[in-house]
Amino acid sequence: MIHAVCVCGARPNFMKIAPLMEAFAGTRRIRTTLVHTGQHYDERMSALFFRQLGIPEPDVNLEVGSGSHAVQTAEIMRRFEPTLESQRPDWVIVVGDVNSTIACALVAVKLQIRVAHVEAGLRSFDRTMPEEINRLLTDAISDLLLVSEESGVVNLRREGIEEGKIAFVGNVMIDTLLKHRSRADESRILGELGLAPRRYAVVTLHRPSNVDRAEALADILTAFETITREIDVVFPMHPRTRKNVAAFGLESRITSLPRLKIVEPLGYLDYVRLMTDASIVLTDSGGVQEETTILGVPCLTLRPSTERPATITHGTNRLVPIGRDGYPTAAEIIAAYQAAPIRPFGRAERPKADRQPPLWDGRAAERIAARLLEGA
Ligand code: UD1
Repeated sequence: MIHAVCVCGARPNFMKIAPLMEAFAGTRRIRTTLVHTGQHYDERMSALFFRQLGIPEPDVNLEVGSGSHAVQTAEIMRRFEPTLESQRPDWVIVVGDVNSTIACALVAVKLQIRVAHVEAGLRSFDRTMPEEINRLLTDAISDLLLVSEESGVVNLRREGIEEGKIAFVGNVMIDTLLKHRSRADESRILGELGLAPRRYAVVTLHRPSNVDRAEALADILTAFETITREIDVVFPMHPRTRKNVAAFGLESRITSLPRLKIVEPLGYLDYVRLMTDASIVLTDSGGVQEETTILGVPCLTLRPSTERPATITHGTNRLVPIGRDGYPTAAEIIAAYQAAPIRPFGRAERPKADRQPPLWDGRAAERIAARLLEGA
């Protein structure tokens, strides 16, 4: 029996930790302790995902909450250390690229506890993104690098990581998508929002580069003025974005557009349903680029780069070309929207399996469990 402390903290972690907890339990040879750092804490950013994805209640909640990067990272480290000292597991499993990921990896490695990083090797090559720093540092100190797409293996080799530490296992976020896709089809969210299938766009935005600067956020809203002339736009708004819309005095810009529907952050099942039937998705999220690839839904990413190039080479993702302002201007978003393939083209025309990234097959978590047990 090996003991793994599994860490999650922010919304995109929950879809990754869910299949791991299930696969580990399934082996009967991996005992888990689930630690929630509390980086995300709202019902709609956290608890709802635990319920919908069947994630067990965390054994420990560090309840760190929000703060600047330094404060949040330091507070997670300070609170995680005693937990780890008392548990002394064989492995700490961290996922993704959020502050909880690097904070817990760093604590573990200093206590000489082995760290496995799930979703290792992704690189945007843009060090202005906090996640890029988290990715680089976590990979540099982890003992096992579990890679979701082939570019990750190339990046890790280039950084001189020992070959024996790298394992290409596939994408755990897609394990969750494939498992829950049929349940998501039962969601009534379209009716509740008054939307017709393949007659609306979905938007998600929360990256500091897009939403922490008034001029960037205002430009995005200007683009929505044009897009909503053609199509309904649903925007489940992240708390960071909502806070900034208010701080920059942009609320009236939003309420003046009748076809722009701003809603609270949605649960997983409603959100997957919304993506499945969308004409197009506009996003700056990492996971959404991957999910739209598997769902076969056109995706426009409002960022100058992606750390997930398989979503472009094998999937439906396109980057919005970004000019010298460093954020996507209204003209750039509108041009990209007008050039994008926009459904309706019906579910039957989802991309064929051979156009999908290798090992995004619903079995990544099983491979990770097997790898942890090798030599145990
Ligand atoms: C974090 C991750 C980002 C990930 C995103 C998904 C880092 C560096 N960033 O960004 O990679 O894509 O999560 O959502 O780890 N807030 C709430 N309720 C919550 C959580 C946050 O209201 O449950 C508000 C707080 O005002 C907080 C702000 O949102 O200050 C930002 O939260 P934070 O965890 O710092 O970063 P995210 O932008 O969510």
